[in-house]
Amino acid sequence: MPPIEHLYIHIPFCPKLCPYCCFYVEEGAKNKNRAFLDALLLELEKQNQIREVIPRTIYMGGGTPTSLLADQLAYLMEGLKTRLPLHQLEEWTVEANPATVRPEKARLLKEAGVNRISLGVQSWNDTTLKTLGRVHSSLQARKTVETLLGAGFASLNIDLMFSVPGQTLEEWEADLQTTLEIAPSHISAYCLTYEEDTDFFLKLSKGHFKQDEARDARLFELTMEQLEAGGYAQYEISNHARPGHESRHNIACWEGREYLGLGPSAFSTLNGERTQNVCDTAEYVRRLNAGMPPVHSRESLDASTLLKEKVAFGLRMATGVEEEHLDNWHAEKIHLLEIGLLERHDSRLRLTRRGKMLADAVGESFMG
Ligand SMILES: C[S@@+](CC[C@H](N)C(=O)[O-])C[C@H]1O[C@@H](n2cnc3c(N)ncnc32)[C@H](O)[C@@H]1O
Ligand code: SF4
Repeated sequence: MPPIEHLYIHIPFCPKLCPYCCFYVEEGAKNKNRAFLDALLLELEKQNQIREVIPRTIYMGGGTPTSLLADQLAYLMEGLKTRLPLHQLEEWTVEANPATVRPEKARLLKEAGVNRISLGVQSWNDTTLKTLGRVHSSLQARKTVETLLGAGFASLNIDLMFSVPGQTLEEWEADLQTTLEIAPSHISAYCLTYEEDTDFFLKLSKGHFKQDEARDARLFELTMEQLEAGGYAQYEISNHARPGHESRHNIACWEGREYLGLGPSAFSTLNGERTQNVCDTAEYVRRLNAGMPPVHSRESLDASTLLKEKVAFGLRMATGVEEEHLDNWHAEKIHLLEIGLLERHDSRLRLTRRGKMLADAVGESFMG
């Protein structure tokens, strides 16, 4: 079997849980210890025995990998480097929260071979940051950007969020402008999603927050216009990059390539199967120490599921999908072409500008 080329590592710790976030994370330091790091490394060793991992991309996300202490981070990086051949590595991303990056950690990551940081700024407006329950101020985020650039990270993504309750169109425009002045190599701009089982979802259900699709669409359009004018290509609905700075790891996942996920709650797509690890850090450590797999659920990926995913993710990307992938949905395809939500480009089909505004609905047309 060919080696596994894409590796995701989930670090489930955050300084504080954000009220809109549905990722598996925990606050506090109860499980943030050497035993957890050893379990991660053990999971990698076990996987390596089944199928060799020679990564082209590594993505450490979460959670907040930089919420590990500097010596824990150093231990993990060293442990990964001694277990992984890195001669094929093209991209090593680490997600960071501005409240958790000190110059020492930035240096350490750079020296370990990390070449891309994804920084969760969300907004440069302190009121919006407060609504989002973030632990950092706009000034702290500014300083963190300087720290990361100073440590030599030329490849830097800034995460932003729009349609936050109370955020005006002018405030979002100012967020975009400030980001453009900083000129990172990559910008992810996400429309706030009200995820089930979050405080924000509860507030929405109680009517404390309101959704407004027309407003979301206006902010999304503004995002596309401003970032395009600033020299960023929208290579995926929420992702904009300067040429050559697209996230290779994310593109591989969206293209349906195989990847291995390590850590609690991490998904893997390997050998025609999608598995998910247990969403419980203590249980994850316990299982690995007991010689048991940390997998909690398994789904076999048949050809029809793989095709639907290829279409759903492919349509979110600027490259679109090969037309033959839509053969099963001929009537839907013709209709979407006729009403101008899809267009042909180089024998592929992709969303038009208007189609991008309705990307979720277009994607759903091909799920039946
Ligand atoms: C897993 S988080 C990692 C970054 C880091 N933990 C932080 O928040 O600073 C990745 C990004 O997803 C986005 N995100 C998380 N929850 C979201 C939601 N409910 N709606 C839209 N975007 C969301 C945020 O922009 C966040 O920075
Ligand atoms: S948004 Fe980031 S910092 Fe906030 S809880 Fe989610 S993963 Fe943690």
